[in-house]
Amino acid sequence: MSKPKVFVTRIIPDKGLNIIRDFCEVDLWQEELPPSRDALLKQVQGVDGILSLLTDKIDGEVMDAAGKHLKVISNHAVGFDNIDIQAATDRKIPVGNTPDVLTDATADFAFALMMAAGRRLIEADHYVRDGKWKTWGPMLLLGTEMKGATLGLVGFGRIGKAMARRAIGFDMRVIYYDPMDKKSGAGFNATSVDLEALLEESDFISLHTPLTPATHHLINSEALSKMKPSAVLINTSRGPVVDLDALYEALKERRIFAAGLDVTEPEPLPMNSLLLTLDNLVIAPHIASASKVARDKMSWMASQNLISGLKGDRLPNCVNPQVYSQR
Ligand code: GLV
Repeated sequence: MSKPKVFVTRIIPDKGLNIIRDFCEVDLWQEELPPSRDALLKQVQGVDGILSLLTDKIDGEVMDAAGKHLKVISNHAVGFDNIDIQAATDRKIPVGNTPDVLTDATADFAFALMMAAGRRLIEADHYVRDGKWKTWGPMLLLGTEMKGATLGLVGFGRIGKAMARRAIGFDMRVIYYDPMDKKSGAGFNATSVDLEALLEESDFISLHTPLTPATHHLINSEALSKMKPSAVLINTSRGPVVDLDALYEALKERRIFAAGLDVTEPEPLPMNSLLLTLDNLVIAPHIASASKVARDKMSWMASQNLISGLKGDRLPNCVNPQVYSQR
């Protein structure tokens, strides 16, 4: 019997790729950069499944270019804002994602950014390498302490809760804003507040919300103006949750203390971006989930979603389960 045909849009860890290779005829995009729109539309023609990355825009046009055999889209990410879920649901195509397995890696990295931005770690590194270190200085590179600081979490899902667990070990006070969950904070020593209170009271603000029309530019100039001058803003969610022009102004004028970004709008950030001129910004290339353990598990989970969909079974992690009730 012939194997199902799949397009895998980039090389993923062997843990998942080998399983997919055993079960499918794989067309693997081997370039460092994602397929262009034209290449994507061409490569998907006639496939039974697509394994996509967050860098691939999978909309109705791509689904139609794949054609009537397309049975599943498996996203190698927990976020799925790169996929038109309504278009997939209309076509009865289940979409899978990779939750849970990257929760701890992402929370670890958000904490790393909090500490790096709060304690000016990158500035300190440059200070030494640039030959500026002359002696121990009582006022040298002073930063923000974690103990007793208020951590404001925007979004209290899996990663938000993992942040709250870590904050307990640092003796922080935790508040959170999540319109979908005002109750579960008690189990984490965290208090639900409205967004305004969170912006005004937090020493560290960390964003853990999906990108939706409601969260697009949630952190804009008005939100930034409510933050303390000592506040540190961290974003490991999706770039467009923060208005970067407004953030640049706030950081440049020292209206907030510092920021740590793992995600930007656009990605990558152009090299002429003014943000890159700031010393109170720590920036990383969207790597919060990039622990070896997490990426192995993500690839495995993405392979399980893909193969389940190809077999006509329910995906272990399906973001549009409505497709099953439509059948
Ligand atoms: C990473 O950003 C993911 O959504 O998995």
